[in-house]
Amino acid sequence: MNTSLSADQRAELVLKAMTQDEKFRLIRTDFGEARDGKPMPVGALDSAGYMPAIPRLGLPALQETDAGLGVARPDLSGKGATALPSGLATAASFDPQLAFAGGAMIGAEARRKGFNILLAGGVDLQRDPRNGRNFEYAGEDPLLAGTIVGHAVQGIQSQHIVATIKHYALNALETGRQTLSSQLDPKAARESDLLAFEIAIGIGHPGAVMCAYNRVNGVYACENDWLLNQVLKHDWAYPGFVMSDWGAVHSAGKAAMAGLDQESAGEFFDATVYFDKPLRAAVASGEVPQARIDDMVRRILRSLFAEGVMDHPSQPAPLDAVADAAVAQRAEEAGAVLLRNEHDLLPLAPTLTSVAVIGGHADRGVLTGGGSSAVMPIAGNAVPGLAPPDWPGPPYYQPSAPLAAINRRVQGKAQFTDGRDIAAAVQLAAHSDVAVVFVEQWAAESFDLPDMTLPNHQDALVAAVAKANPHTIVVLENNGPVHMPWLGQVGAVLEAWYPGAAGGEAIARLLFGEVAPSGRLPFSWPRDESQLPRPQIPGAGMAAIGLPPQGQPADSVDYNIEGADVGYRWFQRRGIEPLFPFGHGLTYTHFGYDKLQAQWKDGRLIVAFDVSNRGKRAGVDVPQLYVTLPANGQTRRLAGWNRISLKAGETRHVEVTADARILASYDSAPHTWQRAAGRYQVQLGHSAAAFEGSAMIDLPAGECSVSTCSTPP
Ligand code: BGC
Repeated sequence: MNTSLSADQRAELVLKAMTQDEKFRLIRTDFGEARDGKPMPVGALDSAGYMPAIPRLGLPALQETDAGLGVARPDLSGKGATALPSGLATAASFDPQLAFAGGAMIGAEARRKGFNILLAGGVDLQRDPRNGRNFEYAGEDPLLAGTIVGHAVQGIQSQHIVATIKHYALNALETGRQTLSSQLDPKAARESDLLAFEIAIGIGHPGAVMCAYNRVNGVYACENDWLLNQVLKHDWAYPGFVMSDWGAVHSAGKAAMAGLDQESAGEFFDATVYFDKPLRAAVASGEVPQARIDDMVRRILRSLFAEGVMDHPSQPAPLDAVADAAVAQRAEEAGAVLLRNEHDLLPLAPTLTSVAVIGGHADRGVLTGGGSSAVMPIAGNAVPGLAPPDWPGPPYYQPSAPLAAINRRVQGKAQFTDGRDIAAAVQLAAHSDVAVVFVEQWAAESFDLPDMTLPNHQDALVAAVAKANPHTIVVLENNGPVHMPWLGQVGAVLEAWYPGAAGGEAIARLLFGEVAPSGRLPFSWPRDESQLPRPQIPGAGMAAIGLPPQGQPADSVDYNIEGADVGYRWFQRRGIEPLFPFGHGLTYTHFGYDKLQAQWKDGRLIVAFDVSNRGKRAGVDVPQLYVTLPANGQTRRLAGWNRISLKAGETRHVEVTADARILASYDSAPHTWQRAAGRYQVQLGHSAAAFEGSAMIDLPAGECSVSTCSTPP
């Protein structure tokens, strides 16, 4: 407990004092819940992971809980916690400070609930809009996702809670996730999915990394020497520990030698507890040297010291629900994306006398995505009893009703109909000044959506309402891109994601212009599945919610089709236009760019320009810097951005520095990023498909390694 020593020194001292049994206890956790007749372990908190305290050494119990959108467990006792909006909302804000604030809020709640490890920091890239967990992640671009998640991790760890970057790596589909092999050329992986992890780890320094369920190029992620030993621990010099996902371990010696440091809840989820008897046997036989066991233990201990878990133990305390909901509200307000706004239908005037509010349980609350990340609201589920009743359900609704929030803002009255009776919805819409239709798409961990179609006849509902009232606004509460066959008929569309604990209030404030929408899409929104690298996901779906899986899950998924060209790069390479490009988002004013200048200074590409608010209202803009590398066949890459708030008529001079890795290609021989000498194109974008200003600049050749590459965001 000598705080003048480094985390490494302190870990070493504890390691030296440990018996072999104590070491073997630290390298596996137990499931922290009661299940299948087995009682909850004594001392556990009814959550995902638990390792009992070792009082002789002063080691606290490890108390692990999900996840990135808030403290997801314990929920059985109904105690609840504060839900952030989808990770995609935070990514859409393009605001690292906001990501930090969200992380700090959920970290503080975890602490007050007695946890010291949060299984939070999901950064798998969005390679398919139907992946059931997209809402937990941060979109398709490695720089954006890595920057946002890195700051969220920083926020969590500012509360002396170990954060866990996951799911390492290429866990980009849920269908068949326990066996599916993600096939991707290692160089392409380094420039896409692994780059997101590299950036997030470089910014956030998470104490833990969770290896994924799936295989990568045929080898299980949790026994993948290339992923764990070579890339993570060697090339990135990662000093923390690798924990497995729950049920992702398939071997003892092989996993240990590949770099896995801790097996999670193996007694429930793995075929056997590999990191107990089988691993002891592997040590006895010489397959695993004792030094490797010590390395596992040292890494776990080091993270506990480095993040302050030892010096600042979690103290149970009541949550500050009001302050925490305000953090969630700010995230939603900054992250909701206004996709369409014909004839300035929005913002709504408070003088409206009649508003039809239709569908989406908007009279009770806002939807939450399902699975291990679902946060039970403090006041309980606003819409109990929906299918599926069991894992990964039931769907939770945060009790922040848009209807009440809209009603607080109109002079007249907002009336609600649930949308199941389309004729009744049409009737209400026809007699109202405006109609706001809430549509929903529940997605969850453990399955993928078979397609992008909204369920439960919601397309027919929107089309009918839009026909009855041209002033129709659609608010989407969804996992991500959906078909919108009615898009041309509606006045406005607001992408509200899963809106979080104060979502109803945030949506109303956005609709009435009390806050201007400022989110930008963190992914490309395809027109339909035919535009995707893989139009089908064999076996996707979930029968219990009326989406029966079609066909057998595949054994592998070929990400070499798009390689590192994920999302907008794929669209550019194929010369096809998505429905909405990456980076797109409207607001209640508009911005222009001028006087772009690119310069190479002190080994950095710096792009300076003026941003002007050319409209009549204050607003927030996100000018985006895209760079195209000189070699043939290159697609443009997001290299940096700014988020800037401007009054009507105001102009500000802005500088954006390009991230060094984005200007380079990964070279596997020397394990470094190599920048080729040549002519680079710099473009300033309102999105990945709309540019205002460009320049060509000659850059010298260069090289950087993990320690020299990062550009402070
Ligand atoms: C999920 C992880 C989660 C773990 C513990 C797994 O099913 O993939 O994200 O942290 O469960 O609940």
